[in-house]
Amino acid sequence: MNTFPKDFLWGGALAAHQFEGGWDQDGKGPSVIDVVTVGGPKKARRITDTIDPEEFYPNHEAIDFYNRYKEDVQLFAEMGLKALRTSIAWSRIFPKGDEMEPNEAGLKFYDDLFDELLANGIEPVITLTHFEMPLHLAREYGGFRNREVVDHFVRFAETVLERYKDKVTYWMTFNEINNQMDYNNDLFLWTNSGLVAKEGENRKELMYTAGHHELIASALAVSKGKEINPNFQIGAMVSHVPVYPLTANPADVMLAEEYMRLRYFFPDVHVRGEYPSYTLKEFEREGLNIPILEGDKEILENGKVDYLGFSYYMSTAVDSTKDTSNLGESAVHGSLAHDIENPYIKSSDWGWGIDPVGLRYTLNRLWDRYQIPLFIVENGFGAVDTIEEDGSIHDDERISYMREHIKEMEKAVNYDGVELMGYTPWGVIDIVSFTTGEMKKRYGMIHVDRDNEGKGTMERSKKDSFKWFKQVIESNGAEL
Ligand code: BG6
Repeated sequence: MNTFPKDFLWGGALAAHQFEGGWDQDGKGPSVIDVVTVGGPKKARRITDTIDPEEFYPNHEAIDFYNRYKEDVQLFAEMGLKALRTSIAWSRIFPKGDEMEPNEAGLKFYDDLFDELLANGIEPVITLTHFEMPLHLAREYGGFRNREVVDHFVRFAETVLERYKDKVTYWMTFNEINNQMDYNNDLFLWTNSGLVAKEGENRKELMYTAGHHELIASALAVSKGKEINPNFQIGAMVSHVPVYPLTANPADVMLAEEYMRLRYFFPDVHVRGEYPSYTLKEFEREGLNIPILEGDKEILENGKVDYLGFSYYMSTAVDSTKDTSNLGESAVHGSLAHDIENPYIKSSDWGWGIDPVGLRYTLNRLWDRYQIPLFIVENGFGAVDTIEEDGSIHDDERISYMREHIKEMEKAVNYDGVELMGYTPWGVIDIVSFTTGEMKKRYGMIHVDRDNEGKGTMERSKKDSFKWFKQVIESNGAEL
């Protein structure tokens, strides 16, 4: 089998709030995720007003990486990771978000972590913020509905870009910024942008307002970053779930095309530095009033990203003849009307359609559309692990999921000619699930002894996939 480019970034991906724990250690302030309770497959996570001692908040302790990072980095090094994608917890650096001076203890934690990674030959790939902003900015300012929050974000971004300028080269601004296109989902509005929709408020207008502010914040961070270190590679990060037409019926094809705009709007602006015409028409058609100020055009134009990072877990399909918009919780994925089960693919226990070919399709569509380097910064299989009596975990399904996706990725690189920077599978060590808050939905190649109720020893152990992925990295993708 063909291998990958020599400097291909094989790694793992994580997010501060899902694995660090230490939610109030060393001066860290609460973030929006710290008031989100545990949920389950049929039980939505709830957002509480304050931290209620009667509730269980799984992200507070997570897997306690904050206090165990040296031990965990040793495991990452043993696995042979060349890169680790993680994020900076904004409220470790600015506990409330609107302070003028950062929290030195928070900055020091990431200095120590990045030093530890670099000493072990692991390149840090850093997302500025991954689904968390200081709670104070959400509660007191209304999150990104308020343009003032842009200034607070930019101060945070500048602080960390400057501080780590000699330690980090690869950055991303907002994690899965396009998740909130599903604006009927309260959790997404809250974690993406610190938003609580008011009674009767036009949620779409609200989402685009916050989204515009984030696009401005991202562009300003890119421009500042380039001034700080011209060698920085600063990317965007989006979730990419291709929408297929169920049939060759032109109505299905066109419907799928329109739904794809939900995926493309944010990356279109990040990469092209301007609003796409289909969105401007939508604003006009629906009378959406988005506060685009004079000068914003230039900011966006000057803050285009260098590469596009994206997550890929699944694909979905639409049938123009079926209206599934009223299914509520039993809808296949989120709130897309006409969304249906794709009869050609199987799904995980959490209903995520397993579609390796969709990854090659995605790589090609994104490459054709943008012509900038791509980076798969999340991919993986969330599943329940069975622990054998001797403690071993034979996670063959996870291995097979990743193997099939890497095969398609290889075709995209060597056959199709897509420029791909790396592959950092999600949750390289078991962490708290974002959507459900469970520990049971595991992606890791390293197991963590912790359950949905927060019980367990936190002990780490290697799954079969650990050895398998090590060999994949050592052979640069030749031995799958
Ligand atoms: C992506 C997020 O949406 O998917 C991660 O960037 C998240 O934060 C991942 O954890 C997997 O989702 P889940 O709900 O299975 O953890």
